[in-house]
Amino acid sequence: MKIVTVVGARPQFIKAAPVSRAIRERGTEILVHTGQHYDTSMSDVFFEELEIPKPDYHLHVGSKSHGAQTGAMLAKIEEVLLSEKPDALLVYGDTNSTIAGALAAAKLHVPVAHVEAGLRSFNRRMPEEVNRVLTDHTSRWLFCPTDTAVRHLKSEGITEGVYQVGDVMLDAVLYNAKLANEKANIMQKLELESGQFLLLTIHRAENTDDPARLQAIVEALNALTMPAVLPLHPRTRGKLAAAGLAITNPLVKCIEPIGYLDMLQLEVNAKKIVTDSGGVQKEAFFAKVPCITMRDETEWTETVELGTNLLVSANTEKILEAIETFEVDFSAIPSVFGNGKTSETILDILQKDLG
Ligand code: UD1
Ligand code: UDP
Repeated sequence: MKIVTVVGARPQFIKAAPVSRAIRERGTEILVHTGQHYDTSMSDVFFEELEIPKPDYHLHVGSKSHGAQTGAMLAKIEEVLLSEKPDALLVYGDTNSTIAGALAAAKLHVPVAHVEAGLRSFNRRMPEEVNRVLTDHTSRWLFCPTDTAVRHLKSEGITEGVYQVGDVMLDAVLYNAKLANEKANIMQKLELESGQFLLLTIHRAENTDDPARLQAIVEALNALTMPAVLPLHPRTRGKLAAAGLAITNPLVKCIEPIGYLDMLQLEVNAKKIVTDSGGVQKEAFFAKVPCITMRDETEWTETVELGTNLLVSANTEKILEAIETFEVDFSAIPSVFGNGKTSETILDILQKDLG
């Protein structure tokens, strides 16, 4: 079994780490890094900390408009597939690297395996929604994290090759929680007390690229009355400067993006997590920390239905009110993202089909 894996953005490095380990126990993996994320703090740090093998191909595509970036990846991934002739191509999630990989493979009749298949926000203005719908419709194996994802695919007429396998992000958290405990020192470094601070992340285009929404979020952060940490995504740093907005509240520590182990340490110690990230919403659930999501909808509807995640849009008052009042009793919350052995399950299925 020879699999070409395509990754390019921060959350994909984290998802690929456990799956990559499982592939290499049973077959050959050719790892392709598109270069969508390239700063040390957005890329190298994850390869080092999570011991992800060095990419066999680095495409160095970098930041561009959607079409230019996706197109450049498509052409270069095609070359890799032509020379490597794999049995399958594996992609994660919903970024431009995902759709570029899926499309390049589909056109060469290389079967596509999609991890995190079936997720939907039903908001086609999100670049991620377009990427995930198209990737699902080109995939031979659709590895869904939840029952909801399976239902979404069914409603689009996709029932073959659909597997509810759980979420590889739980595998990553379980594998790295102990390491984070031993190695991470960000709590000390930032002089934070457990349960006494908020963890913030903002990077979604719908928030950063809309000056009114970005301003509403900044107003909320500037009105916070408890300590908060904001590892700032480079997109957001750029958009804040372009919009002439600044986080001036001395209680909010704006820092560079951090490594995964530091992030896990902050997540388990935060009083609440305020985010627009897909992955961080799930990690809040795993860490049993209330999550306040600055979006109008979420793909992770289970977390909202179970009452652990509250959608507050980019609304200053709603964000502040939720920070003040949103509490969660995690004692009776079931596990809905699998058992932490999703990578092995995915490999069982691929091995059965590919030998
Ligand atoms: C991408 C994904 C998004 C995912 C996010 C994870 C798409 C369409 N979006 O969004 O779904 O949630 O990754 O973090 O694929 N930049 C740097 N250094 C870097 C990377 C980016 O400075 O290493 C800056 C550049 O100005 C770039 C901007 O961030 O233009 C946005 O980067 P891009 O990869 O296009 O999108 P993300 O917002 O990171
Ligand atoms: N993350 C990290 N350092 C940071 C911010 C996020 O390691 O400074 C991790 C986070 O723990 C999660 C993943 O990155 O595992 C989420 O990525 P991101 O929010 O960029 O993208 P999304 O999940 O929204 O696509």
